[in-house]
Amino acid sequence: MGFPSALGGLSYGLAFGTRENIPAHRHQPKHSQKQNPQNPMDQGSMTWREFWNGSHSIYVNERHRVLHYDRIAKDIAAYIPSPQSILLDYGCGDAISADVTAQKCARLYLVDSAAAVRDRLKRRFADQPKIVILDEAGLFALPEDSLNMVVCNSVLQYLRADETARLIGIWHDKLQPGGMLILGDIIPPEPGVADDVKALLIFALQGGFLFSALRGLFATFFSNYRKLREEIGLTTYTEDDVLTLLSEHGFAGQRPAHNIGHHQGRMTFIATRL
Ligand SMILES: C[S@@+](CC[C@H](N)C(=O)[O-])C[C@H]1O[C@@H](n2cnc3c(N)ncnc32)[C@H](O)[C@@H]1O
Repeated sequence: MGFPSALGGLSYGLAFGTRENIPAHRHQPKHSQKQNPQNPMDQGSMTWREFWNGSHSIYVNERHRVLHYDRIAKDIAAYIPSPQSILLDYGCGDAISADVTAQKCARLYLVDSAAAVRDRLKRRFADQPKIVILDEAGLFALPEDSLNMVVCNSVLQYLRADETARLIGIWHDKLQPGGMLILGDIIPPEPGVADDVKALLIFALQGGFLFSALRGLFATFFSNYRKLREEIGLTTYTEDDVLTLLSEHGFAGQRPAHNIGHHQGRMTFIATRL
């Protein structure tokens, strides 16, 4: 795999793939890695969940991380229907600007599968009564029809298609009729590497971290993220795949022109629970 594909780590991945019965695409490992017994990744034992629970350098520097989460929080906040809304952000990551989102709603549930991420969120938002941190069991335990909005940004590429389908069904049941589901940063099949480079570099140029971004491209080429992407792959969807999936689970979906976050080569979908 050539150097440009290393960008997967910085822009959350490139993927190509096999079709499963649920429309989606996951690429196959292109070659096996040289094994290093000191590194669990090299034994092929790491999952995406474990990757996100460990330490990684997906952001090229702190400024990149801050600007990334600031933009996500503002983009999500723009969709909040009313100050009384109860929101859930699934696979929220470190969500360091979640307080911005929380200002626009009555309650914000932050759900992440990674215990390390949840611990950091609990410390960060200990003094924010509107923000509640949950694991997946906490999501399942929420009452039905109790949410006004669910957002899931830049997560579905790490899930198998059947996991995504199951989650969409769960979100459907937790949302009130008329509630909104937002799926953001969905990777289309055969994404353009040039688009990924461009999206990152424009973001970096605007954010004042261009040099770090260039250095980050190089570092990502040697990263665990790239190795894992080659071992496990990422799941990608066409626009029709997502709209069909939503419709099959009781949602009316549409694709707005703007993707949440900085990468406009990826897709966001807004769906209403029927
Ligand atoms: C790329 S980060 C996205 C973070 C944030 N939503 C954003 O847009 O920047 C993916 C997050 O999804 C979480 N995640 C991965 N697999 C998950 C799963 N099966 N269930 C819940 N969270 C998951 C990871 O722990 C990680 O925090």
